[in-house]
Amino acid sequence: MSEVRNNEEENGLLISIEGIDGAGKTTQAIRLKKALEERGLPAVYTAEPTYSRVGALIRALSLIEEPAVDGVVEALLFAADRRIHVNEEIVPKLKQGCVVVTDRYVHSSLAYQGARGVELSWIRSINYFAPKPHLAIYIDVEPSQGLSRIGGGKTVFEKLSFLERVREIYLALVDQGELVLVEGNRDEERVHHDIMGLVEPLVSR
Ligand code: TYD
Repeated sequence: MSEVRNNEEENGLLISIEGIDGAGKTTQAIRLKKALEERGLPAVYTAEPTYSRVGALIRALSLIEEPAVDGVVEALLFAADRRIHVNEEIVPKLKQGCVVVTDRYVHSSLAYQGARGVELSWIRSINYFAPKPHLAIYIDVEPSQGLSRIGGGKTVFEKLSFLERVREIYLALVDQGELVLVEGNRDEERVHHDIMGLVEPLVSR
């Protein structure tokens, strides 16, 4: 069982945008999708957790103040939601030749469930079905900045010390070359400019 599916048969491009809560990834992912469309490229914005039934269950659990389930159960739920996302949205769009911009993907499970103590290699193995992104971007902000942007934190996922651990894992993945870091503590325009600089070489092939 290979960890990532070979996606050479698909013509599209998969770009994931990662970051802690309040990093600005949703804003940037939507801007990126629009910028690609303005160039005449078919592009879609999509996000995890999804609006599938599993996604709805995840959202319901995350509204509970204390962790309702342990990290392993969380990882399984996010992987189940991702399986639906990959099969019903990501792969069909890649096959149509679209640029798929996903707001969170496998690296969110590594960072968040990893921060809850779940072994990273096991998280990778239960996500074996997920096509590897052509480009995975990590927008870096300090957890205190992220939390102040979103008004203090609204779910169990958004506590400061927890987000510090999440960030450490993201930064380790940057060091390993899996994610490309974009400095997020700047105005929106500059962050977008840097992201376009990373995407440009891929779309002008
Ligand atoms: P978020 O991007 O904040 O969604 P929304 O903008 O709809 O609130 O994601 C919700 C939370 O889910 C976020 O705190 C991170 C967490 N999460 C994981 O813990 N693991 C995962 O695999 C994913 C995709 C998200």
